[in-house]
Amino acid sequence: MCGIVAYIGEQNATPIIVNGLKKLEYRGYDSAGVAVLQDNRIEVRRDAGKIARLEALIAAQPVRGMVGIGHTRWATHGAPNQQNAHPHLSSNGEIVIVHNGIVENYLSLRDELLAEGAVFHSETDTETIVYLIERYYAVSQNLSKAVQLTMKRVKGAHGLVVMSSREPDRLVTARLGNAGGVAIGRGAGEMFIASDLPAIVEHTREITFLESGQLAVVSRAGFEVQTLDGAKIQPKTQHIPWDPVSAEKGSYRHFMQKEIHEQVRSLSDTMIGRIDFDDYRVVLPDLNLSSERAKQFRRIFITACGTALHAGMVGKTIIEHLTRIPVEVMVASEFRYIDPIVDANTVVLAISQSGETADTLAAMEEGRRKGATLWSIVNAIGSQAMRSADGTIAMQVGPEIGVASTKAFTAPIVDLYMLAVYLADLRGSITAEKRIDLIRDLLKVPTLASKTLEHEGEVERAAARYKDIRSMLYLGRGINMPIAYEGALKLKEISYIHAEGYPAGEMKHGPIALVDKDLPVLVIAPKDAWYEKMISQIEQAKARGGQVIAVATAGDTLIPDLVDEVLWVPEAPWLISPILTTIPLQLFAYHIATQLGLDVDQPRNLAKSVTVE
Ligand code: G6P
Repeated sequence: MCGIVAYIGEQNATPIIVNGLKKLEYRGYDSAGVAVLQDNRIEVRRDAGKIARLEALIAAQPVRGMVGIGHTRWATHGAPNQQNAHPHLSSNGEIVIVHNGIVENYLSLRDELLAEGAVFHSETDTETIVYLIERYYAVSQNLSKAVQLTMKRVKGAHGLVVMSSREPDRLVTARLGNAGGVAIGRGAGEMFIASDLPAIVEHTREITFLESGQLAVVSRAGFEVQTLDGAKIQPKTQHIPWDPVSAEKGSYRHFMQKEIHEQVRSLSDTMIGRIDFDDYRVVLPDLNLSSERAKQFRRIFITACGTALHAGMVGKTIIEHLTRIPVEVMVASEFRYIDPIVDANTVVLAISQSGETADTLAAMEEGRRKGATLWSIVNAIGSQAMRSADGTIAMQVGPEIGVASTKAFTAPIVDLYMLAVYLADLRGSITAEKRIDLIRDLLKVPTLASKTLEHEGEVERAAARYKDIRSMLYLGRGINMPIAYEGALKLKEISYIHAEGYPAGEMKHGPIALVDKDLPVLVIAPKDAWYEKMISQIEQAKARGGQVIAVATAGDTLIPDLVDEVLWVPEAPWLISPILTTIPLQLFAYHIATQLGLDVDQPRNLAKSVTVE
């Protein structure tokens, strides 16, 4: 978590860094700060709260200079107050640092530094890093050497940028493990550093990503990358095709609303280049897969966190149905702790919007260690989950800024569908006719999503009716069961209303005890194989005085007579139905939260990418 931006060049660094931080506020917004080299002195401005507070502080106490670093924080060690805000200064005021990650051995380092007379001003683990750098600098008089030695002492995963008034012509940045990326962007006579691309893509698209265990010395003219042992490395630079406009809110009130509506486009964008229209085949060249290899797979583990995990659950049904390969879906934070049965004929498939969720990356490492084929479905181009996989499917949906994930939920379902068709085709488990039908169905998705969105006004009215509830139950069955989880998660995340997703059949084993007039039950009941079962769920809830909101298929004449509210979706083939049934639930959560006056894009306590365990 946390966002980092740094600049060295000929322009005033302060506005460039502050604007970059604003683009990264989705990563954390507990506090923010900048440090700029002004007249060869390090000036720090930092405050608790959002970047707007930092801007006000800078307006009151301006600071300008051509080298600087900035940070927006999601607190791990220490409360989100001013003392704990980054940047953190060394005791002599000559070195300053912004840091992303957790120093796992910070207590022992702190004791060691205290014994040497260090005085700590914050509760952060980051302060130990800057004091270590200061200590090593006193001996080596060389900033990159001091950072190098420090990185060897700290345990955990880190991304950091360091600036010193003693070496005003450079910034030193380093990365260890998977605590978020370090991207270095080249401009003309200026260089940018950021933990995430949205902070700098408006300035440059020529990007180099640091790998774990690498350090870079960045000057106005360029940069040099080395290992933590000082060995020079020839870095790879990529041109990032990114549309900065898509990182703006446009006419929408919130990024989340924009991203919900963008699904019409993102659902087709994610198919671009993957469907061969001459013979209605899926092509996934980035998976590097032969038909012989595809036939060898005996098991697929899908691993992910949060919303991405729910997409994986939908994918399980699609892949198993079409390929008959057993698929297990596992919470990434558990994967490495339960000794999963993985061998050379197992695929470990990670799904991640950010491509840098620490637990997901750790699950991938576990898969690698056990000899699995490693695939990822990732949105953030160049992210760790993309780079470390043997094969990858890029979501291609552009930046997702709202903390509550929406378009990065539906796109991977399409990707998993394409993967299932692709594998089934290579393994011969579907006929050519079936393949063509499946692809025809998939191509309908963007239009059907658009039709679903036309009902936003009705969903908004339903939200007005239920916005004051304290708790809610979401029920789904079959392929729509994970949509109950996802709908409940959306409501929790942004409206702070307690919600539980349940497989509908489990209601009678416990949750039904909760049902009364104050606990609405949302039942996902499209016209599919489980429709009649869902009708009896509705009857059971109504019989106990519950209020029922149903997601139902347009044209259904029975459900409106049984329930209190209907959220409509168009008729759709069952394998793609979850993409549609999820949309009214996204809108329902969104409108409840906005009607409650809550901060939809930056809900309390959450962060967009969780780069700590
Ligand atoms: C955080 C976000 C969620 C997201 C999850 C996984 O918890 O708040 O919206 O689903 O991380 O993130 P990823 O980037 O791996 O998809």
